[in-house]
Amino acid sequence: MAKKPVVIGVAGGSGSGKTSVARAIYDHFGDRSILVLEQDFYYKDQSHLPFAERLKTNYDHPLAFDNDLLIEHVHKLLRYEPVDKPVYDYTLHTRSSQVIRVEPKEVIILEGILVLEDERLRNLMDIKVYVDTDPDIRIIRRLIRDIKERGRTFDSVIDQYLSVVRPMHNQFVEPTKRYADVIIPEGGQNVVAIDLMVAKIRTVLEQKSVL
Ligand code: CTP
Repeated sequence: MAKKPVVIGVAGGSGSGKTSVARAIYDHFGDRSILVLEQDFYYKDQSHLPFAERLKTNYDHPLAFDNDLLIEHVHKLLRYEPVDKPVYDYTLHTRSSQVIRVEPKEVIILEGILVLEDERLRNLMDIKVYVDTDPDIRIIRRLIRDIKERGRTFDSVIDQYLSVVRPMHNQFVEPTKRYADVIIPEGGQNVVAIDLMVAKIRTVLEQKSVL
């Protein structure tokens, strides 16, 4: 069988701790063997739309994502070719004009609320993870993050959560838990789960003798 990188999907609701799981795994292996592709960076480009229109977009629906581009990039990375990852601006609600050159690595983490929703993405994954965190914890994390880092107001975060994020989570995100090989409660703080993931990845890498 031809050698190819290992692909790990990390899904879960907004604020569940996907980023911290990806970061904890990344920190164990370092830049040499692992890269993270955030599905958020692959939101469809909306630079042609006026700002007011961009505010109306449902960012929690599967159609908000440019999965075609994400899949194309994963295929390239699987062939050990570099890709130009888009950069997303949460304040302007669109893709920025910049890209980040990502060099291929032996482990690819695909992280995002709906990475397990698209069958084409699931078929590319060797390990599928769902980060399962209670909704009260998720909304508290989201409030703090969106106000501090994404230029939002308290009222706008609450409105968006109740009208869009919560219903879309129940309709599209939560049901993808059934596709997961591993369900991690509480995200990156779950040291045991992270250690198990790291051990599994290490075994796969050792089999390929790349460590
Ligand atoms: N989103 C938004 N405005 C945009 C684009 C996305 O508010 N212009 C929100 C969507 O509502 C979606 C969320 O971004 O729910 C996805 O990011 P999230 O999963 O919360 O962040 P991560 O850091 O990827 O994950 P985690 O909090 O689990 O670490």
